[in-house]
Amino acid sequence: MSVLETIEKRYSVRGYEDKEVEEEKLQKILKAAQLAPTGVNAQAFKVYVIDTKKNADKLKEVYSAEWLIEAPIVLAVVSKANDAWIRPWDSVNINEIDATIVMDHMILEATELGLGTCYIAAFHERPLIDLLKLSEEEHPVLLTPVGYPNAEPRETGRKSLEELVEYI
Ligand SMILES: Cc1cc2nc3c(=O)[nH]c(=O)nc-3n(C[C@H](O)[C@H](O)[C@H](O)COP(=O)(O)O)c2cc1C
Repeated sequence: MSVLETIEKRYSVRGYEDKEVEEEKLQKILKAAQLAPTGVNAQAFKVYVIDTKKNADKLKEVYSAEWLIEAPIVLAVVSKANDAWIRPWDSVNINEIDATIVMDHMILEATELGLGTCYIAAFHERPLIDLLKLSEEEHPVLLTPVGYPNAEPRETGRKSLEELVEYI
């Protein structure tokens, strides 16, 4: 499958089969995170692999949609803002950009492996910090469930390239 074919195949999966993810597939997804580029190669992130069965009650506090815990695994990308590159002239910290690229790499790899995912930003931070036992400098950026899809894509159109792209 080409990268573009994988991108076309991906959609937000909001329903999962009661089926485990093979360890080999999980390791490939984590490898994609390891290979993700980060600003100045700081690698100021950590990926947490959350077992949904063991952590169901806490995960419901983090994000209440039932489909989150239908999947066997939830992945969380956590950034370490203190270690990320800061653009010197305007002090913009790029930790969230790094973490987002890491999540995108994992999601595309999962898609290629026939697994479903869904970017989740609308989580409650406090219960997630407690669940992952994060320190002050660790900042959760995105979650995704990972599992075998049991839901069709919603109708989600895209703007035309004319609207999205400008050549100057
Ligand atoms: C950064 C980001 C955060 C998102 N957060 C959520 C979320 O919290 N809950 C949810 O159900 N979908 C979330 N989504 C999914 C989007 O709604 C979805 O990607 C968009 O509607 C396009 O649909 P598609 O993913 O099926 O192509 C998020 C997507 C992105 C990229």
